[in-house]
Amino acid sequence: MSTTPSANTPPLAPGLPFVGSILALSNDAQDFFYTQYRKLGPVFRVRALGNEFKVLAGPEINMLMGTQPDAFSAWDTWEPVVQDFGGKKTITMLDGPEHARMRRLMRKSFSREALVSNVPQVVALITELIQQQELGQRIPAARFMQQITANILGVLSNDRVPGEYFDDIVTWWTMLLEVHVSHLKPASTLQSARYQHAHQRAKEFASLVFEERKKNRPEIDEDNLLDNLADTSSQDPDFLSHDEALFLTLAGYFAGLDTVANVSSFMLYELLQHPDILAEARAEADRVFAEGVPTPESFRSMHTLHVVAQETLRLYPIAGVLPRKALRDLEYGGYVIKKDEHFMIANAAPHFSPEFYKDPYKFDIDRYREPRNEHKKRGAFAPFGAGPHTCLGAGLAEVQIMLVVATMLRYTEFTMDPANYKLKKAYSPSMTPKGFGIKFNAWRS
Ligand code: HEM
Repeated sequence: MSTTPSANTPPLAPGLPFVGSILALSNDAQDFFYTQYRKLGPVFRVRALGNEFKVLAGPEINMLMGTQPDAFSAWDTWEPVVQDFGGKKTITMLDGPEHARMRRLMRKSFSREALVSNVPQVVALITELIQQQELGQRIPAARFMQQITANILGVLSNDRVPGEYFDDIVTWWTMLLEVHVSHLKPASTLQSARYQHAHQRAKEFASLVFEERKKNRPEIDEDNLLDNLADTSSQDPDFLSHDEALFLTLAGYFAGLDTVANVSSFMLYELLQHPDILAEARAEADRVFAEGVPTPESFRSMHTLHVVAQETLRLYPIAGVLPRKALRDLEYGGYVIKKDEHFMIANAAPHFSPEFYKDPYKFDIDRYREPRNEHKKRGAFAPFGAGPHTCLGAGLAEVQIMLVVATMLRYTEFTMDPANYKLKKAYSPSMTPKGFGIKFNAWRS
């Protein structure tokens, strides 16, 4: 590998002595990375409170995650999260054949098909929660969406809503991510009575769900998440320990809390900002619900809701920066990233580049339509990551977001609360529309 001395030192993002870029990072870390990518190129250094790390961005790194997966690992990021639960490893940490084996255990329950073949049940879950709301009452959007999401994914993967365990699961997962993944809180936070209680309750719920399925398991093999976890952990505990199986039992409850819930909230916000698109989406929802609930074919005909979801995923990439460690020396953008070096992949940085997206900060659903198809350039659209670790629930998440919003449009009239709400993004720990609420003003029959 040949490198010139200057090629070994990528440009440094602006910052102050010692504290570095901490202010910009705490304000909006993701946006800071995307802006620096446009100014400094595909590799740059960031300093914060005496630490320094590199950020790799651009469509090429998204492609490289697929073509050279052996160069990266997310092991160190997720290890403390799983250890806290009692296990050693989980799907996001593995690579190669073990990783492929783990994905197979979960694939069917987290597939698009899992939702599309259970639409009546999913619509019933959504309408039940909608009907529990009072007209005119303020509803914190992200929290409401977390509840809907956990109920849907819980039923699809484990045939059970989280019920009285919902708050505990949210607290457990949020605090774990804040400490170990986003590093927004110190590790001592996890010693608090609040966390310890939530952790114990989350584990209790996982055991309950896992054991109940074992007792009531049907005779016929269903390629079901819980059965796969039970079989694998009893046959090959080195590959999947009991605690690791319990951790993944909760995946349906935690996987959507930061992701689907926040994207759906941003989508409601954008619809309310664009009455013309809202009207188009509502007409589509009315059409697909005209003869009962949407059918598998209806999903393919929901063109407006699909492009609205895509544009929301582009503009609000809740997992737009992914931490990694180099497993070997890696050359990227003319620089060398050394073996064992920790760095960030800004997978969503191209989403904000005018090279790919015309007027990239504008919410514009036509960019996905012929002839523009701006997202189709390789590596330019990566809200679900890239390569072997690409989101396992991507297809499911997309149809879920579309169905939840379509159901709300079909059965309710809603507005923003407060009416003059100005969007403020916050990280808690993932990107969320801070203070954004809605209220139902009328039921539609
Ligand atoms: C809008 C919603 C979602 C977004 C934006 C999203 C985003 C992502 C991203 C970027 C990754 C890659 C992480 C990495 O490479 O380090 C990922 C992985 C993953 N996601 Fe999602 N996700 C969403 C919803 C879901 C849902 C609903 C599920 C399951 C029901 C799910 C399950 C997973 C799993 C299991 C992985 C790990 C895959 C692996 O390591 O092989 N996600 N997600």
